[in-house]
Amino acid sequence: METGLKTRPILVTGATGGIGAATVRLLANEGADVIAAGRNQERLSALSSDTGCRTLIFDLTSEDEIQSALSEIELYGVVNCGGWGGEIATPMDTDIGVFDKVIDINSRGTLLITKYASKSMINAGKGGAIVNVSSQASLIGLAGHVSYAASKGAVDAMTRVSALELGKHNIRVNAVNPTVVMTPMSEWYWGRDDIGGPLLETMPLHKWATEQDCAGPIVFLLSDAAAMISGVCLPVDGGFSAV
Ligand SMILES: NC(=O)c1ccc[n+]([C@@H]2O[C@H](COP(=O)([O-])OP(=O)(O)OC[C@H]3O[C@@H](n4cnc5c(N)ncnc54)[C@H](OP(=O)(O)O)[C@@H]3O)[C@@H](O)[C@H]2O)c1
Repeated sequence: METGLKTRPILVTGATGGIGAATVRLLANEGADVIAAGRNQERLSALSSDTGCRTLIFDLTSEDEIQSALSEIELYGVVNCGGWGGEIATPMDTDIGVFDKVIDINSRGTLLITKYASKSMINAGKGGAIVNVSSQASLIGLAGHVSYAASKGAVDAMTRVSALELGKHNIRVNAVNPTVVMTPMSEWYWGRDDIGGPLLETMPLHKWATEQDCAGPIVFLLSDAAAMISGVCLPVDGGFSAV
């Protein structure tokens, strides 16, 4: 499959995390000019030594930092992967401060990156692709995930609206909706047999996703092989949301 990503500049947020770093590595293998973004310079430098990626530091909650970080760079693609899991809580006992923070990072952060990155992509006039990393939690009712699910539901909605608005610039916008990946965000909760077991039992493939299972579909959606796909929220969930 020809991805067409060679030398194309692609920003990956959350690059210091599990799914983000796997995506950086796969994009680098495809010859893309990867710009890995995060908050931890040490981890970004290690990723850069391994892959040759450029690095960028900003906090997803700061419009000023995002605007200034993205003002000078030309982009073809974006992976909105930075995110936070929040808390496990019901609507009855949720901490509204956690709700605000999870929306701030996951939803508002995705919109801010889309806002400033798409300006750069439109100016470059070469089309492009954005992939938002959403979650299975936005597709079905997942116990204990009220705030996180809401934040990713907003990401799915933004994906569709952005696909509509940016299509005339030949910029495609899609999302992936992974099931559990055993990164630190998930392991403490889903790693418990009493919590993870019942989900695995109902999932047709009966296994958790890996970081690489997510990176593959992300890179596909960025690539020329997905030239006619836009506005899609693609479950990467072993069939969990289909049954
Ligand atoms: N793991 C799962 O089960 C799962 C399932 C479905 C979807 N997802 C989604 O996949 C994405 C990546 O998750 P992951 O599993 O790879 O988690 P992870 O390893 O915890 O990585 C999260 C990444 O987001 C960054 N981040 C968090 N808050 C930030 C902020 N305020 N500003 C800038 N960067 C920030 C982190 O940077 P720092 O290193 O600086 O904290 C880190 O790079 C997230 O959007 C998550 O919601 C995860």
